[in-house]
Amino acid sequence: MSWNSRHLLDIESLTPEEVITILDTAREFKAVGERSIKKSPVLRGKTVVNLFAEPSTRTRISFELAATRLSADIVNFTTEASSLRKGETLKDTARNLEALNADIFIVRHEASGAAHFLARFLHGSVINAGDGAHGHPTQALLDVFTIREHKGEVKGLNVTILGDILYSRVARSNIWALKRLGANVTLCGPSTLVPKVFEQMGCTVTYDIDRAIENADVVNLLRIQHERQRKTMFPSIGEYAKLFSLDHARLAKTKPDALIMHPGPINRGVEIASDIADCERSVILDQVTNGLAVRMAVLYLVNQAAQGKAARQDG
Ligand code: CP
Repeated sequence: MSWNSRHLLDIESLTPEEVITILDTAREFKAVGERSIKKSPVLRGKTVVNLFAEPSTRTRISFELAATRLSADIVNFTTEASSLRKGETLKDTARNLEALNADIFIVRHEASGAAHFLARFLHGSVINAGDGAHGHPTQALLDVFTIREHKGEVKGLNVTILGDILYSRVARSNIWALKRLGANVTLCGPSTLVPKVFEQMGCTVTYDIDRAIENADVVNLLRIQHERQRKTMFPSIGEYAKLFSLDHARLAKTKPDALIMHPGPINRGVEIASDIADCERSVILDQVTNGLAVRMAVLYLVNQAAQGKAARQDG
């Protein structure tokens, strides 16, 4: 096993072996989830805080369920019901939670670098659940887990990520994870949202959707990240859908066994035709199911590393 970090802050600092360790551990936890008794005692006595300063459905609930399945105590923190609204800083908020003996902080924040920032001074573990447009490591891990489950291996696959790449933390973390595992990554969308600079990450950039999807083994669709766009990036949603939506005509041009993926939330009729999201080739809900196993694995591994470090310091 290759893992010795008490945090999971990004994908770019992971080795391929560390990515594989998380995926293999997740496979074991997925098997636990298929048993009649789904609980494991590995986090008994630990307190996990879901520190979400941005909205979330999948990630927050998935982490909550993952921590519960591992027998931890879980605290859900949301900005609206907190003293962040009264001007308290993120740092003071986190330190107060640590004063209540929190062990693991799962952090989602609009600022890129928020999780890295907290990891600099908190004694507990920090897991990045999405920071600005920078990263969403557990999303990328559950995506590559799902690809591996369906395709056997990620190495050599052609993966196309289609949509708003510029503002997407999912895209960045996916690119890192896919490249670590040896996939060929193609990015496509409006030129304003898919700048050529992404070629420096080893990706192919194209504005021709037919070219982007024709040889793809996986098509991963991303929504427009309106919440992070500060200016108009394309003329209208209708025009975007016409030029870049995965509709039936385009689906017919893909390989018959190409997987259709989406991290959610889906904007049906914009980046994907509604019934394609629910078709046989769609693995969108498999991604959600696998997210639970991946997050159990991450919680387990960071806790093991933190305990190992604490034991060494005691010794
Ligand atoms: N994929 C994802 O991060 O979804 P949520 O924003 O609902 O957590």
